[in-house]
Amino acid sequence: PEAITVQELANRMAEKGADLVKELFNLGMMVTVNQTIDQDTAELLVDQFGHNVERVSEADVDINTTEDQDPEETLKPRAPVVAVMGHVDHGKTSLLDALRKTNVTKGEAGGITQHIGAYQITAKDKSKITVLDTPGHAAFTEMRQRGANVTDIVILVVAADDGIMPQTIEAINHAKAANTPIIVAINKIDKPEANAQKIRERLLEHEVIVEAMSGDVQDVEVSATKGTGLDKLVDAINLQAELLELKARPDRAAEATVIEAQLDKGRGPVATVLVTRGTLKRGDTFVVGTESGRVRALIDDNGKQVKEAGPSTPVEVLGLGGVPDAGDQMTVVENEQRAREVAEFRQAKATESRTALAPTNFDTMFNNMQ
Ligand code: GTP
Ligand code: MG
Repeated sequence: PEAITVQELANRMAEKGADLVKELFNLGMMVTVNQTIDQDTAELLVDQFGHNVERVSEADVDINTTEDQDPEETLKPRAPVVAVMGHVDHGKTSLLDALRKTNVTKGEAGGITQHIGAYQITAKDKSKITVLDTPGHAAFTEMRQRGANVTDIVILVVAADDGIMPQTIEAINHAKAANTPIIVAINKIDKPEANAQKIRERLLEHEVIVEAMSGDVQDVEVSATKGTGLDKLVDAINLQAELLELKARPDRAAEATVIEAQLDKGRGPVATVLVTRGTLKRGDTFVVGTESGRVRALIDDNGKQVKEAGPSTPVEVLGLGGVPDAGDQMTVVENEQRAREVAEFRQAKATESRTALAPTNFDTMFNNMQ
């Protein structure tokens, strides 16, 4: 059952804790400011102090971001977000590594690559591509189940010496279910036994019709280990991105999706987020899942501190109140009070659904008290 401490209630009524204790004493209750009181007592106190108990509806407290669409004229092109999928050993990790190396801005040999769950590459034509650095289908489906579909394009890796395998088919099905366009990377083309044409033909059976077979799915022959065809793959991604007309409004309060999060020994809770719209800035106050926080530092995929991060930028965020889940939405709000209000509301709701006990709870009830 929900309860509230006398001090907490006092804070919410903007009264002195001691005054509440006195009033409770008059009501025949001996409590200190740190003790909790039940719902009826709290309601009685609120009444005594001349406040109104307002039951707050979800719509008043929580943030509904899906409803406010940004006007068309405020939208600017944003970088595509790609995920790499494919069968075991077909070269997903090798391709992720190879793509990272194609980055023209990170020329320095042996440079330290920070692992933050996603990275951005800058192609020769200065165009940017955000790559989710987690191969495999689990991340993709988990995120989707949580309503967070951040992937714009799926790179389907198929080893030319092996062909269509169970996880290839699984990846195709996931991409189709999510309505995410596929680019086929026919990998290991350097191998003597590689047969790209056979792959193209076999893909037909799974309704992936590549351009050479008169379809509209792009396919690129690559060798992740030799670095062959990577420029073509980048071109294919950019072409697909153009067709998708990916846009977001940069000049607004940021929204982002958590890619991964953990508790770091030295730095506290750390989350890698992908900004979906707006610009996330140092000092911003936010809610993420059931946590609130204030951006203490932003660290990019090179391990460098940055002041802000715009749409499609992956960035590590420090300054969270707790560790959120992958797929959680981060929303920047006006002030700390608002952030706490929403976070507390969500925590209360989470507790409520876990215990399925209390029909109302204090966090909700006293949120809007004047
Ligand atoms: P899992 O994570 O186990 O599913 O594998 P993966 O898809 O990440 O494949 P990974 O990148 O680990 O590559 C598997 C093996 O294939 C490794 O031994 C790679 O060196 C090799 N390999 C990957 N790409 C190529 C390529 O283009 N050519 C050749 N010859 N070998 C490759
Ligand atoms: Mg791998």
